[in-house]
Amino acid sequence: MDVSSIVKEKVSEIKQEIGDGKAIIALSGGVDSTVSAILTRKAIGDRLLCIYVETGFMRKKDEEKVDKISRKFELKLKKIDAKDKFLREISGVRDPEEKRRRIGRLFIRIFEEVASEFGADYLVQGTIAPDVIESKGGIKTHHNVGGIGKPNLKIVEPLRDYYKDEVREIAKFLDVPSEVIEDMPFPGPGLAVRIMGDVTEEKLEITKKANEIVEEEVQKFGLKPWQAFAVLMEGRATGVKGDLRQYGRIVCIRLVDSIDAMTAGVYWPPREFLERVCSRITSEIPEITRVLFDVTPKPPATIEFE
Ligand code: XMP
Repeated sequence: MDVSSIVKEKVSEIKQEIGDGKAIIALSGGVDSTVSAILTRKAIGDRLLCIYVETGFMRKKDEEKVDKISRKFELKLKKIDAKDKFLREISGVRDPEEKRRRIGRLFIRIFEEVASEFGADYLVQGTIAPDVIESKGGIKTHHNVGGIGKPNLKIVEPLRDYYKDEVREIAKFLDVPSEVIEDMPFPGPGLAVRIMGDVTEEKLEITKKANEIVEEEVQKFGLKPWQAFAVLMEGRATGVKGDLRQYGRIVCIRLVDSIDAMTAGVYWPPREFLERVCSRITSEIPEITRVLFDVTPKPPATIEFE
């Protein structure tokens, strides 16, 4: 793959597509949106506005990465705090696809508002090939594919023909910070799809902490899975903490290996890793009494639980 000509070609395609119009893009701190933003910035300069939407389902480090990227690549950035809106939008919703649709629709409404203030007609998205294929195949509604609703904006998807490993190569060429390139993929709807059933503030806090612990320990143990995360299960399980019976919550840990996210195998961590994660989760998150480990490849499972 000749990365330098791909970059030139993409920049000129974006230039042609957007002409002298304006565009917005939502930055998430992930490699796909970062590369799309840099290419678009090269094509149309300051006529690109980047936004960071705090849905409440993001991790602390996502905003930090976006800050770093926008400084390094001189991207115009607007931050939007939409935590309350997102929580309200999916309050009481248990069905995973309905959750995805509602989150997607709210994203679209926010994009439309920001675009109209900025005078943009275009929405650039970091959609990559597997997102397109899996959405078309009806596997899941990927929130960054225009299929969730009809935004009032023209969609530009510079990376729709590329797979993750190719996007990472382009990112390297563009000098994207390694923590962005090497970071594990994180879904657009964020932790909302790692909470089974309805999403509440309490469940969100638990899930955030559990995911932080898993990611910290993956780093400490020097593991290199494609993705590693924690999912809050529905229901409860009996446990004992101190001398007391506790009917607590259940978390499932998932580590997978993959090349393009279309298929995935289980990434088997050392037993010490699982013991450490279990011990930290059950002691640092009082609500949890049980930690499970998912042994299912994709297919038949998908990577995320919802
Ligand atoms: P699944 O769970 O479908 O996920 O096997 C495949 C890959 O895509 C990520 N994922 C998403 N990424 N928007 C995204 O940008 C989404 O709506 C979305 N849903 C899943 C998932 O983390 C995995 O890497």
